[in-house]
Amino acid sequence: MMPPTKIKAFVFDAYGTLFDFASAAARCPDIPQDKRAALTGLWRDKQLQYTWLRSLQNRHTDFWQVTGDALDFTLATLGLDSPTLREQLMQLYLRLEAFAEVPDVLRALRGRGYKTAILSNGTPAMLSAAVAGAGLADLFDGVFSVESVGVFKTHPDVYRHALAELGLSAHEISFQSSNGWDAYAASDFGMRVVWCNRYGQRPEHLPGNPDFEVRSLREIPDLA
Ligand code: LAC
Repeated sequence: MMPPTKIKAFVFDAYGTLFDFASAAARCPDIPQDKRAALTGLWRDKQLQYTWLRSLQNRHTDFWQVTGDALDFTLATLGLDSPTLREQLMQLYLRLEAFAEVPDVLRALRGRGYKTAILSNGTPAMLSAAVAGAGLADLFDGVFSVESVGVFKTHPDVYRHALAELGLSAHEISFQSSNGWDAYAASDFGMRVVWCNRYGQRPEHLPGNPDFEVRSLREIPDLA
């Protein structure tokens, strides 16, 4: 039995947690089947590296630009450079599939009186496209973008932004992320954290200690 908690809101990371970034390459017929996994992996790794490096350098640009820059690097690396392919993949990134359990989980949490929100590196336009495309528009109280802060995760101001928007303190928020580094940082910031370790990542050696580790968001309502 879990002790009673004071959790009032469930806040979710977007990419990899609610939305499957592998669905872009998977739905692009012009990417050879045997290059899809490599493209998805390198695109994601490079995209994240660019967010961290730009934050360190104090040279912020938005996640749409970073995602495009990372895609350019990836297509060149894999010998797939083509403006048409680039355009197709960027458009598909705006319409990523939600993981199968997401609508039911959000409905279950909201049915139990919790607020639900997104806190993501994505731009407001990218996030509203993803949310609308997946038919989730009625299932969030707020969609919060780092663009309001001007720096990427894991800057503490990003996690603080969710508190300000929701009018809650850190210990009243359960934060769900599939990214170990994001989960550890939110935990270090003071949120209760569920690491949705979809990708079987190794534990991080970073400040923070996620409270729970699950493989799918389906397990979240049981923790509420
Ligand atoms: C996000 C990335 C980190 O949505 O997945 O913020």
